[in-house]
Amino acid sequence: MINSKELLLHAQKNGYAVPAFNCHNLETIQVIVETANELRSPVIIAGTPGTFDYAGRDYIQSIVETAAKKYNIPIILHLDHHTKIEDIEASLKLGTKSVMIDASHHSYDENIAIVKKVVEIAHKFDATVEAELGILGGQEDDLVVNEKDSKYTNPQQAVDFVKKTGIDSLAVAIGTAHGLYKEEPKLDFERLKEIRNLVTIPLVLHGASGVPEEAVKKAISLGITKVNIATELKIPFSSKLREYLVTHPEENDPRKYMKDAKKAMAEIVKEKILMCMSQNRY
Ligand code: 13P
Repeated sequence: MINSKELLLHAQKNGYAVPAFNCHNLETIQVIVETANELRSPVIIAGTPGTFDYAGRDYIQSIVETAAKKYNIPIILHLDHHTKIEDIEASLKLGTKSVMIDASHHSYDENIAIVKKVVEIAHKFDATVEAELGILGGQEDDLVVNEKDSKYTNPQQAVDFVKKTGIDSLAVAIGTAHGLYKEEPKLDFERLKEIRNLVTIPLVLHGASGVPEEAVKKAISLGITKVNIATELKIPFSSKLREYLVTHPEENDPRKYMKDAKKAMAEIVKEKILMCMSQNRY
């Protein structure tokens, strides 16, 4: 497995973003890698602690490793929103090379101390580290943040944070949230521009589900090089699955009843790859 350094730097240099899709099981990983392969796009497969608890770190690791060997495009397994150092270490030992430590809910100094420790450990394994400064609203698995508790990234603080922690990429809070939006999100592009001017490492946009394509593209043009998408993939998969089971109540074969769900999810994966402009890069 490879880390995400070269991949994100290539995206940064060439004006596109690497899509990071959240996976949950074998089927969702298959859809992501098969679609990325068709479009010749690099891809990051992200797993939250909830996904690894559900599916098993070793299973997910092996499935993604198999996919990375099978297809001739860069495929990376990435730990999304991890908070426990022992979970990160467990994955590093299995061969994961890309991790996010999310200590954004702690005080600034604590965030730095925790992230720095993870960087020290991860770099020994040749793994890259993403961390978040500012706090995104919304819900990602068990992580729920009310709008009033969300905080935008302070550009000056971002410079200090990157310098003190030694991270490889920075997740910025510029107005996106995890999950679905009640109304169209307004991204703070001026803030993003300012961060990009001050910070040289790749920048990451979380909570891209429901953000209009034009807004994501503009964020990419202003320096975002990794775009995270989860909710918008879950919706077509589960609604098609529900529809199939309701219209075929006699069907009990998972190999059949998940087919339409996978196809519906693949369409969104394709749409998001095109939005990230990551097609035909490899
Ligand atoms: P969405 O569920 O809003 O797409 O957020 C995904 C994400 O940011 C994963 O870290």
